[in-house]
Amino acid sequence: MHRLLAISGSLRKQAFSKAILLALADATAADAQFEYADIGDLPLFNQDLYVDPLPPAVERFRSQIAAADGLVIASPEYNHGIPGVLKNALDWVSRPHNGSPLKNKPVLIVTSSPAVTGGVRAQYQIRETLVSALARPVNTPEIVVGHVGGKMVEGRFTDAATIDFALGGFATMFEAIAHAKP
Ligand SMILES: Cc1cc2nc3c(=O)[nH]c(=O)nc-3n(C[C@H](O)[C@H](O)[C@H](O)COP(=O)(O)O)c2cc1C
Repeated sequence: MHRLLAISGSLRKQAFSKAILLALADATAADAQFEYADIGDLPLFNQDLYVDPLPPAVERFRSQIAAADGLVIASPEYNHGIPGVLKNALDWVSRPHNGSPLKNKPVLIVTSSPAVTGGVRAQYQIRETLVSALARPVNTPEIVVGHVGGKMVEGRFTDAATIDFALGGFATMFEAIAHAKP
């Protein structure tokens, strides 16, 4: 069983991003156990606060990442880029540079949008931030979900083709996790 930490780049209660994470957790239930991070309670990053003891929400988020075999990020795109809450969360766990809990952590990225572009521009910014923190974005065809609203039924993400495509990314991530383990 792989332990995966799921992070939604949207804090919205009815977020498509959260629905996608739940659908992916269902689809991979035989191989993975999902835990969900709450990045909404992290303070705004301020290097003055990056001292011992760290704010409790930051400490909890760092521990969740350290305990996970891999991360799954599902996010919208805001103004052609990474949502501020997600960037804030990743900045909190990106230090110390060579000892971040993100270091060597495989991360699968999924973006979605009501537009046809599916948040692909944010996807590249998320990837770049992860590379900076020495994480390992899973090298797989981009999982982008366009027209996401039309792929929901009663608040649940139900698009079989997207889920099937995403499973290819999970398979690559599971291989990366297996290689990373001693
Ligand atoms: C501040 C803001 C900026 C947005 N910018 C973009 C954008 O650049 N590209 C895009 O495809 N959608 C954009 N959207 C639409 C979001 O993709 C849409 O609201 C999406 O449903 C949010 O994801 P969620 O359902 O996970 O909350 C934007 C929405 C907001 C609120």
